[in-house]
Amino acid sequence: SVRLRHYRYKGTVINTWHVMAGAPEHWRRFSARPTDVFVASFPKSGTTWLQELVWQVVHQEQSKQTDEPLEYRFPLFDMPSVERMRFKEISEMSDPRLIKTHLPYHLLPESVWTSGAKVLYVSRDPRDVCVSYYHFCRMVNFNSYRGTFAEFRDAFQKGEMMYGPYREHVKGYRDHAGQVLCVTYEELHQDRVGCIKRVAEFLGRPMTDELAQTIFQRTSFAEMKKNPAVNYTHWQKEGVAHPEKEVGAFMRKGKVGDWTNYFTQEEGDALLKWSQQLV
Ligand code: PPS
Repeated sequence: SVRLRHYRYKGTVINTWHVMAGAPEHWRRFSARPTDVFVASFPKSGTTWLQELVWQVVHQEQSKQTDEPLEYRFPLFDMPSVERMRFKEISEMSDPRLIKTHLPYHLLPESVWTSGAKVLYVSRDPRDVCVSYYHFCRMVNFNSYRGTFAEFRDAFQKGEMMYGPYREHVKGYRDHAGQVLCVTYEELHQDRVGCIKRVAEFLGRPMTDELAQTIFQRTSFAEMKKNPAVNYTHWQKEGVAHPEKEVGAFMRKGKVGDWTNYFTQEEGDALLKWSQQLV
């Protein structure tokens, strides 16, 4: 397995892959189109969930589900051309291009904002992000994290995780909430139909109640967990993830509040307070 080193670029943690691929140059030069749709997030905040929802809203003419894994239909922008990260060249995609990114607001290409491309941002309770990220880092071969949760939590708070620091990431997008459609993981749980309608309106796609219901059903945790086109089980075949029983799956629990199994109430309160302190 590969061990990746971390670097800081304009305040944000990136890794060996980004550096080797000359990613910052690619980010600067990228030419966005008015029809592009970006789903941005700090990792483990509900990216896949919002991506699938957006894909369904945009491809609403499709009556049946696709088999193509989401990471090909909706590729990651951040990593241009390192060997196995070359999923699909974004420049070769047809419009409308649906693009995933974990880059913070200040690292997105200028052309995203000048082109009129649409940007959506999803955020999540930092305590649940931290727990989900911990399990993810244990699962993937390019990290194989085997430290304790307490060590992980401290590193998360210090902003030492990939794409960290967390607070600045969220603030960067929230400060531009007029331009960026911001939704939360918790809203996706509480009122997914409302989120589907907001997304459809933001993207200028008509939405009937019937279609909203279909998308609602297709994006439930149970449906997504069993759907190989979105559940990332292909990562096991490709050697990206450890075998499932050892460290768990990408579609792990899908809950609000799993943090209570990892933090004491005081620790949880403290992390939440900390997350709200950056103004
Ligand atoms: S990544 O790697 O950054 O793209 O990961 P991301 O998709 O942001 O986060 C993965 C977590 O989102 C949960 N998830 C869902 N929850 C509820 N419903 C649906 N449909 C859904 N799809 C993904 C996934 O289970 C991860 O959270 P945890 O808490 O680890 O289960």
